[in-house]
Amino acid sequence: MTSRPVIDDLSSFWMPFTANRQFKAAPRLLESARGMYYRTSDGREVLDGSAGLWCVNAGHAREEIVAAIAQQAATLDFAPTFQMGHPLAFEAASKIAEIMPAGLDRVFFTNSGSESVDTALKIALAYHRARGEGQRTKLIGRERGYHGVGFGGISVGGISANRKAFSGQLLPAVDHLPHTHNLEHNAFSKGQPAWGAHLADDLERIVALHDASTIAAVIVEPVAGSTGVLVPPQGYLQRLRDICTKHGILLIFDEVITGFGRLGKATASEYFGVTPDILTMAKAINNAAVPMGGVAASRTVHDTIVNSGAPGAIELFHGYTYSAHPLAAAAAIATQDLYRREGLFERAHALAPKFEAAVHALRGEKHVKDVRNLGLVAGVELESRDGAPGARAYEVFVKCFEAGVLIRFTGDILAFSPPLIVSEEEIARLFGTVRDVLATVQ
Ligand SMILES: Cc1ncc(COP(=O)(O)O)c(C=O)c1O
Repeated sequence: MTSRPVIDDLSSFWMPFTANRQFKAAPRLLESARGMYYRTSDGREVLDGSAGLWCVNAGHAREEIVAAIAQQAATLDFAPTFQMGHPLAFEAASKIAEIMPAGLDRVFFTNSGSESVDTALKIALAYHRARGEGQRTKLIGRERGYHGVGFGGISVGGISANRKAFSGQLLPAVDHLPHTHNLEHNAFSKGQPAWGAHLADDLERIVALHDASTIAAVIVEPVAGSTGVLVPPQGYLQRLRDICTKHGILLIFDEVITGFGRLGKATASEYFGVTPDILTMAKAINNAAVPMGGVAASRTVHDTIVNSGAPGAIELFHGYTYSAHPLAAAAAIATQDLYRREGLFERAHALAPKFEAAVHALRGEKHVKDVRNLGLVAGVELESRDGAPGARAYEVFVKCFEAGVLIRFTGDILAFSPPLIVSEEEIARLFGTVRDVLATVQ
């Protein structure tokens, strides 16, 4: 493959979640991708240990998805979905509904995880209003939660760096559960930690403080990803479910990372056997080939809202120009077919024990203070350098990239989430590279 010359002006693109000056002084540019590998602008192959940004679950440039997008672009490039429709929008929603937890078969399309979260929060408010409890407006998130970057998402989110610059304008009626991360009790847990289910009981404290009649919804990531892979303690999610049910509070699972096979099932809800009322999705919905997200709502939530207004009235004043964009919908249908045909969720399930063994073999390496995992996602927490949090993980990330492996990091936590087509040899190479790099980092 011929590689284009690297462009010499990087100044116009204001990069997201990036140290722009640092990056532009020493850029890392990806030019093409296929299967498990990226190719850089200087012609090097890089093993994708993070499925892009946790989103390319079937591997890159899959022919069936590429063909579906190309054909759709030539057939119907755009169609509105406000008071209009196109067949693929309905087909994509049905396909996704088929693999959602039982009862969550009404799907609202968005273009990203952030939009899915804000949509889910609005649906929760609209639901209570439609059933005559419009005073239920409070939203409960969790410390360290990541729910994207909309004002709703950062308000219920719990990562202070994402909130502090905007703190004067966050949603006012929000409270937070405590996070579940505790190395004293749970360091080096394989799969779900044994300690910590009781942390869900804090919801009872919050209910006692605000009164259930003011609370609309609780939103959590079943496995918190972007904050550094926090696996829920055994029994924790069920307890949250029980408390929400007891008090008439909606439970929202933000499955933007856990959806579509990351844990070896279609959803984390299926994996844990705990069903929320509303489920957000995005990343792997169409293998990240075209921006798309979605919200699956229970029949109860959907029907309550949709049947509340007069016939002929718009029931939910919400939506995006690109909701169910034809290219995104075509890619979603092709992706869901591919997941099923290749049994990729089952493949992830079968590989998980090997992935677990490989990542836990890093225990005892220099700087490593925790290893945690579930399905095909893992986090490795490093000791921070004095006065320079995040610097060590950044150096590991850069050195891994130079050694031909792409990983993620947040603070001093390394995160791994390869495409579900990863081979055992590639898993060994991924963690072998990390081991070698850790040995060279101060
Ligand atoms: C759980 C969760 N929710 C929401 C988002 C936001 O998604 P997006 O970046 O597509 O807006 C993310 C992104 O990482 C996420 O992990």
